[in-house]
Amino acid sequence: MTVLLVAGGTGQAGSAVVREALARGFSVRSLSRKAPPPSVALDGVEYVSADAATGEGLAAALDGVDVVVDTLEGRGGAAQKRFAEAGRRLLAASHGSGVRRAVMVSVAQCDELPIGYYRSKAAKELVYREAKLPTAIVRASQFHSLLDSIFRSTERLRIVPSVRAARLQPIDVRDVARALVDTASEEFSGHSMRTVSGPETRPLRDFADEWREATGSRARVLELPLPGTFGRYFSEERNLAPGTEFGTITFSEWLAGRGEGPANLF
Ligand SMILES: NC(=O)c1ccc[n+]([C@@H]2O[C@H](COP(=O)([O-])OP(=O)(O)OC[C@H]3O[C@@H](n4cnc5c(N)ncnc54)[C@H](OP(=O)(O)O)[C@@H]3O)[C@@H](O)[C@H]2O)c1
Repeated sequence: MTVLLVAGGTGQAGSAVVREALARGFSVRSLSRKAPPPSVALDGVEYVSADAATGEGLAAALDGVDVVVDTLEGRGGAAQKRFAEAGRRLLAASHGSGVRRAVMVSVAQCDELPIGYYRSKAAKELVYREAKLPTAIVRASQFHSLLDSIFRSTERLRIVPSVRAARLQPIDVRDVARALVDTASEEFSGHSMRTVSGPETRPLRDFADEWREATGSRARVLELPLPGTFGRYFSEERNLAPGTEFGTITFSEWLAGRGEGPANLF
């Protein structure tokens, strides 16, 4: 049986990949610094501890692995600065262990916005494009859960924030997992990149209205003008990747399923 290691397998995207890979018959190992609590650990998954940023535990974690799916995150501060380096360490250890191929998730259009978080994604993509083993990058548009957390962020002020003139194409993390496992299942060589986005491209305002309706929030939607680099990124629609629709689960379907069933992660 093919052994698939999910780096970051206890996280949002990673746990969706773990479920998808299990369902497709892979032998699944999950790598993270902390083991998950027994209440959320999945049957049939081998959970191992390693730190990709320092390299500690990586060689042992990768022993016997055929394919790596990298869903690591590094938000803010030192983790963001070391994000690309963590990818480099993971790939070096993978190459050393005889891993056949590696797939990483990245952010759609991350090379179009010069902010630190996106730069760290683009820097890690470069590491993957220069790797000694075959690699594939799957860029994903914003997860539905990200919109949810943005809309929720100012709820106590009775405001649902939106950005005037911004359109988005959010995707369900289960669809992202499907794309990642599709790619990981292929016998490929060289280096490649694709982008996957959700089924709808609509104004952020529409999603905010749907969110209000679904959650019963009485906060009002406030459409803000966004100045500067961020503003141009949205008004020039450099955040969009037309023609990359892949996901089938809409934002309203995701909202309707929140809190239900084992496939829902939140
Ligand atoms: N949110 C979005 O809208 C969106 C859209 C497109 C792409 N993405 C990308 O998807 C990726 C995953 O995001 P996510 O929201 O699923 O992240 P997440 O929920 O924060 O999960 C991150 C995972 O990585 C592990 N991890 C972090 N640092 C580690 C380290 N040094 N060594 C080993 N494991 C480590 C975490 O476990 P421990 O903390 O226990 O180590 C956890 O399992 C990110 O690269 C993100 O940019 C996100």
